[in-house]
Amino acid sequence: MTDTMKALAKTAPGIGLELIDAPIPEAGPEDVLIRVHRTAVCGTDIHIWNWDEWSQKNVPTPMITGHEFAGEIVAIGKDVDRPLKIGQRVSAEGHVIDLNSEAARAGHFHLDPHTRGIGVNRQGAFAEFVVAPAFNVIELPDDVPYEIGSILDPFGNAVHTAQQFDLLGEDVLVTGAGPIGMMAAAVARHAGARTVVLTDINDFRLDLAQKVAPGVRTVNTTKEDIHDVMKELGLKVGFDVALEMSGSPVAFKQCVDTLIMGGGMAMLGIPGKPMETDWGAIILKALTIKGVYGREMFTTWRKMLGLLKAGLDLSPLITHRLGYADYREGFEAMKSGQSGKVVLDWDRAA
Ligand SMILES: NC(=O)c1ccc[n+]([C@@H]2O[C@H](COP(=O)([O-])OP(=O)(O)OC[C@H]3O[C@@H](n4cnc5c(N)ncnc54)[C@H](O)[C@@H]3O)[C@@H](O)[C@H]2O)c1
Ligand SMILES: [Zn+2]
Repeated sequence: MTDTMKALAKTAPGIGLELIDAPIPEAGPEDVLIRVHRTAVCGTDIHIWNWDEWSQKNVPTPMITGHEFAGEIVAIGKDVDRPLKIGQRVSAEGHVIDLNSEAARAGHFHLDPHTRGIGVNRQGAFAEFVVAPAFNVIELPDDVPYEIGSILDPFGNAVHTAQQFDLLGEDVLVTGAGPIGMMAAAVARHAGARTVVLTDINDFRLDLAQKVAPGVRTVNTTKEDIHDVMKELGLKVGFDVALEMSGSPVAFKQCVDTLIMGGGMAMLGIPGKPMETDWGAIILKALTIKGVYGREMFTTWRKMLGLLKAGLDLSPLITHRLGYADYREGFEAMKSGQSGKVVLDWDRAA
């Protein structure tokens, strides 16, 4: 093993990422070193690429980005007491928490306010090697390929959002057919929803959703009125549950308008700026609104692996599989909106 590796990094403030040779990181006493095989591109990576206001405030440079990954363990810190092995195939929770925080001590690991992100606040996984705390490591079953392992992080966002309300036999609206919305629609189907309606304003995404979440009724809300679709599906009053996954104020309003009285809305999508809301409608409909952050450690991960075992197939969501040197093509595809998940392969350059 040489002591340098290929990595994609923001070397200095500004737009873009650079392919560099970086030192292979060392695992601390409670960490593992992972040989990365696949890393998926996340919306967060696009924010960092674009060097938007959020990134400028939150991402120090130089920073190797990337947090959605899978690989194999190649070194284990001396104080690690989990039964992990060299050669073990793994993914990892990208939120690194302080186990001594009040939230963590109360068992709410994902609610630690001092969470640090792999590839955001500490060196990341667009690289041949990455270090992660052993606590964060998720063992991959043999039948889960690395590329699926690399998209468990956003799948976890979808599952965690779907965990917020009972979906069995219910009419469910999912707004935003990005990668996470598509997966949430597939989860809602698997969870036994009566109907699942998935909206977007991008036909590429809605067409892809038909493959990721078969049986879901897709709606381009710029072309079709959602109330007509509700009639077609026999919804007399409204949806029981809405999963908001676009961050769009227009979609948020559609959720409020089409939920039944007493309905529930789980919000994962992050509005780009503060948005005006008709609180009167929310109050008079007695809606329950729940903000959703990250994934529950580690209940969501257990449920994810369970859903995969039960036959939920995420592979149609991956539209681009590229060698790491072709990263520009991958980021362009993500930015265009004409993609599902883009996965970089660290076993080949091109
Ligand atoms: N809360 C969290 O912990 C967390 C974690 C990850 C992602 N997110 C957020 O979740 C959302 C989904 O993530 P993603 O990676 O799938 O994002 P994405 O940007 O790929 O997908 C959003 C989709 O919403 C669609 N959209 C835009 N306006 C719409 C409208 N009016 N109606 C319906 N759809 C509309 C877009 O065309 C796009 O396909 C994003 O807002 C992201 O920032 C939150
Ligand atoms: Zn992500």
